[in-house]
Amino acid sequence: MNAPARINSALDVRSQLIEAITKAYEHDYATVHRGVYERSAAMTASYEAARAAASRLIGGEPNELVFTRGATEAINLVARALPKEGRSRVLLSQLEHHSNIVPWQLAGYEVDAVPLTKEGQIDLDAAEEMLTEEHRVVAFAHVSNVLGSILDAPRAAEIAHSKGALFLIDGCQAVPRLPVDVPSIGADFYAFSGHKLYGPTGIGCLWGRASLLEALPPWQGGGSMIDRVTFQKTTYLEPPMRFEAGTPHIVGAVGLNAAVNWVEQLSLDAIHAHESALVAETRAALSGISGVSVYGPEDSAGIVSFNVDGVHPHDTATILDEAGVAIRAGHHCAQPLMEWLGVPATARASFAAHSDSSDIEALVRGIEQVKRIFR
Ligand SMILES: Cc1ncc(COP(=O)(O)O)c(C=O)c1O
Repeated sequence: MNAPARINSALDVRSQLIEAITKAYEHDYATVHRGVYERSAAMTASYEAARAAASRLIGGEPNELVFTRGATEAINLVARALPKEGRSRVLLSQLEHHSNIVPWQLAGYEVDAVPLTKEGQIDLDAAEEMLTEEHRVVAFAHVSNVLGSILDAPRAAEIAHSKGALFLIDGCQAVPRLPVDVPSIGADFYAFSGHKLYGPTGIGCLWGRASLLEALPPWQGGGSMIDRVTFQKTTYLEPPMRFEAGTPHIVGAVGLNAAVNWVEQLSLDAIHAHESALVAETRAALSGISGVSVYGPEDSAGIVSFNVDGVHPHDTATILDEAGVAIRAGHHCAQPLMEWLGVPATARASFAAHSDSSDIEALVRGIEQVKRIFR
């Protein structure tokens, strides 16, 4: 199987990204939105070009795209800044990453968690029954970071809106794996991270519907987000600047722009098709090995969680690492999901555009080795 990234080695994301970041530090380095000197104006243009690229990727507008440190900060922003308007509950699901649980708890919401279907999808029939007019927000992962389950996001949006709740999507795992179009989904907020999208760490995005962002008060204060400051009263800039207090991760945004361009050149349809084929191949291969449990739905997006019976996933991961196969093992920041699976942890193979069948062959050889060692 040909991985799309390998079709044309000139499209290597690492070199495009490193080139963009190096150029930004070596030649263009300046702060943004302040200096009147030429370099600052040029850097501001690069920073805003990154905003345009990140919003374009998900079908949004630049003024709807707030740069954050990552999906975690994006969700914290909404949880902290959104007025509750008399609604003190949030509807989450059993498979959420801790980043989409803890911010709501810290912001004083009562949490309800929608169960999963036996395949590991968020049970939207149950969500419909559980949702009440006390819920301010419904917040679900678009793609589970453990099971790869893909949410029926337009239906989830309809359910949320039927009771007047807002719909936030944690798109961390979806943005690098699926074409996403926030207006056609009917999302109100969409959060994602640069480093999941082949980009740098420390940069992420919150997309919010323009009318919602306009009504949202700031959550952090400082430079760059104000209109006028006096000791008596401060007024604020329009979104997205209202939510970007302080000097942002400028070079991170430049790197993110390069990553978005790379992903767009490959096309998310092609990446999704490629990763789906790899998932099917992996699930078939692992199901053929006795004593291996495979989790999640057949049509998982690029992720296969598994366990070798009787072996802790950390041991599995260590032996696989010795065989040159890097997988993640643990609770994946999704402890409530581990509880649902009835295991303390899983091993997780996670594919990307540059993965191919040879990676699956190495995984299978490594698992055979795990079984030999622990026999
Ligand atoms: C589904 C999901 N949500 C949220 C996060 C948190 O992302 P970050 O740590 O980049 O803020 C992750 C990261 O693993 C994730 O997979």
